[in-house]
Amino acid sequence: MLALMKASPKPTPRKPKPAAKLAGSIAARLDRPVVLVGLMGSGKSAVGRRAAKQLGIGFKDSDQLIVEAAGISIAEIFELAGEMKFREMERKTLGNLTLASPQIIATGGGAFCYEATADLLLQNTFTIWLNASPATLLSRIGNTKTRPLLHNGDPLATLTRLDEQRAHLYKKAHIHINTDGLSTYTAMMALLHALDTHLPRQ
Ligand code: S3P
Repeated sequence: MLALMKASPKPTPRKPKPAAKLAGSIAARLDRPVVLVGLMGSGKSAVGRRAAKQLGIGFKDSDQLIVEAAGISIAEIFELAGEMKFREMERKTLGNLTLASPQIIATGGGAFCYEATADLLLQNTFTIWLNASPATLLSRIGNTKTRPLLHNGDPLATLTRLDEQRAHLYKKAHIHINTDGLSTYTAMMALLHALDTHLPRQ
């Protein structure tokens, strides 16, 4: 009798989406913060925020923390206290952030170009350079008012010069990703794949 009863079909387990599976494997292996470096407009905040959400870890933006602590904008810090004071605040902020548990940290574009800050990041984090052409950077930046280094009438020329001056420093990062032509999502996927390759298998 029992043999005649039809067994109800077993629910097929839902396959995890590829990004979720990849993110789960990375999150399980991540033992330090992931820090994004690169020029203004390279996508550090947008890609970083999205990757953090996908990985289920926190996201911090060092510029934002500095602004909150100072109570004034970055443009005002440059104007009132000077760029070197800003760089000192940047190094201290990143020093505190690197002590925290694995999370994604977006840096200001110049942070990694100062030796003490670069050493700190290279020793304690996975540092990823998001690279893009000056024209791409400018198209993403839109409003240049919040970027004191671009307050000089020709932001494209400034970005080109900064790219020439800084590329050899950004190259020290552990991982390089060219984001030209990538959407935030595809850049995030490129970042996840790069981390997956970089992190040791358990
Ligand atoms: C800077 C980049 C800015 C900000 C400051 C200086 C730089 O950050 O930290 O204006 O030196 O490239 P974003 O890269 O987030 O725009």
